[in-house]
Parts: sequence; C-alpha cells; structure tokens
Amino acid sequence: MAGRLQDKIAIITGAGRGIGAATARRFVEEGAKVVIADVNGETGESTAAQLRADGYTAIAVQTDVSDHDAVRRMVAATVEQLGPPTTLVNNASVNVFRDPLKLTDEEWRRCFAVDLDSMWYCSREVLPYMLANGGGSIVNLASVHAFNIIPGCFPYPVAKHAVIGLTRALAIEYAANNIRVNAICPGYIETQITIDYWNTHPDPEAQRLYTYNLHPPKRIGTAEEVAAAVVFLASDEAAFVNAACLVVDGGRSVLYHE
Ligand SMILES: NC(=O)c1ccc[n+]([C@@H]2O[C@H](COP(=O)([O-])OP(=O)(O)OC[C@H]3O[C@@H](n4cnc5c(N)ncnc54)[C@H](O)[C@@H]3O)[C@@H](O)[C@H]2O)c1
Repeated sequence: MAGRLQDKIAIITGAGRGIGAATARRFVEEGAKVVIADVNGETGESTAAQLRADGYTAIAVQTDVSDHDAVRRMVAATVEQLGPPTTLVNNASVNVFRDPLKLTDEEWRRCFAVDLDSMWYCSREVLPYMLANGGGSIVNLASVHAFNIIPGCFPYPVAKHAVIGLTRALAIEYAANNIRVNAICPGYIETQITIDYWNTHPDPEAQRLYTYNLHPPKRIGTAEEVAAAVVFLASDEAAFVNAACLVVDGGRSVLYHE
C-alpha cells in the first residue's frame, strides 16, 4: 500500500534529534525520501544512517540554516542527490530565554537568525522548485509561545509569533500555486531541549512533575505525537488546510488558571 507521503522529497531541518528526528522517521515510513539538514553533522549523519540501515532513503547535509549560502548549498545537494524538494519542514530552532534587559544584541540576533530567518531562507530556496512542480507543502514548527507569553523566555516568543506571520503570508502568496504553508504549535514536548531546561532548576525531577501537572492529561507530549501532526499537514490529506496553526499541547493553552 502506498504511504501517505509516497515519493515526496522532504527537507527536514534540525532533524538530528528530537521532533525533527521523529518526523524524519515517520516521513520515510510513509514513503518519503528525506534530507536531514542539521548544524550538528554528527547527529544528522547518525539519524540518516539509522534510517538507511532500516532500508529507507535518507541523506544528511550538515547545514547551519541561519546562513543563507549554506541553505542554498543544502537545497542544491538535495536536488542533485534526490531530486527537487516537494516538502519542507522548518523545524530547527534554539531556545533563547532571557530577562529582556539582560539580553545582549548578539543573543537577540541569534534567536531571530535561527528561529525565523532560517525558515525564510529555506522557504525562499525551495519555493521555485515547488512552483515548477505545480505544488508543495511547507510545515513550520512554531510553538504555543506563538500566542502565549511565559515571563523570562524573551525573545523566543517574539520570533515564534513572527513564524506564524511568515506562515500566513507565504500561505496566501502561493495558495493559487497549490503550495500550502502551515504551522504546528507544540506545547511542552519531552525532548532534550526540555530536559535541558528542567536541568536549569535546582530540582529537575520536581520541575518535571510540576510541568506534567500543568497539562490536562497530566503528562507532556512526545516527539512522535508532533511528528504525526507534521505528516498530516505535509500529506495530501490536508489538501485544503492552508495558513493554519495546529496546536499540539494536550489542551493546556485552553485551560484557564484560576
Ligand atoms: N520540545 C518542546 O517542548 C517544543 C515546544 C514547542 C515548540 N518546539 C519547537 O519544535 C522544534 C523542534 O524542537 P525540539 O524539541 O526537537 O528541539 P531540539 O533542541 O531537541 O532539536 C533541535 C535541532 O535543531 C538543530 N539546530 C539548532 N540550530 C540549528 C541551525 N542553526 N541549523 C540547523 N540545525 C540547527 C539542533 O542541532 C537539533 O538537532 C523547534 O522549532 C522548537 O521551537 C519544541
């Protein structure tokens, strides 16, 4: 039986670990060929090698997605080795969580370079291929920080709000060309970046339990649960879903805290 992403050629940024790696696995299981574009060449290559060992088509192209020239080279390598990209998952991101008045200009620039500019650079370089192909799908990893604010996390939510703006603007620009652009807004997901955050607290285990209890299901999400949502938005099953933001947070952002 054909997979839900049969014969798609997908670039997934930051897929060396976490949500990106889980997405790469789900994509190949659904019939796609994937390019893992991670700044960490070691984890990128090891994720690709595991997928190849399981019989799937996956390549790693070490890429700092905040560098437009590096993105151009990565897309050229994709075209050369697998063919023109049909699908882009803008997943790579860094958490820059600061007190606003302690933030340096370099930290501000790094946050926007990795969390926002990169999504534009990758979109900019794949869109001509999608236009030539007669369609395509872009999925941007935003966050619940794209519409909620947690004090002390500045300026990450500013960049994530802008990811929704980028998603909606490009979605409308290219809708008539059969190119869909959507966002996913995960809540707390148990990946390394979240574990690293808990480890900044004096009692990481207590912080983990506190986080679980903030969520209506009394747990947080898994990378695989986000990957399933990315598969849906990237697939033809979501053919009329455009400029949307799919929240994957167990309902936490709807919960009213008394
Ligand atoms: N984990 C969560 O709780 C959570 C919640 C909301 C949104 N998100 C979003 O989901 C996405 C993935 O999150 P995650 O938890 O898997 O993160 P992660 O930190 O586990 O993985 C991020 C990956 O991106 C790569 N990366 C970082 N900078 C890069 C760069 N300049 N170029 C290329 N690759 C780079 C890293 O090497 C890493 O492999 C991010 O956009 C994040 O903001 C995560």
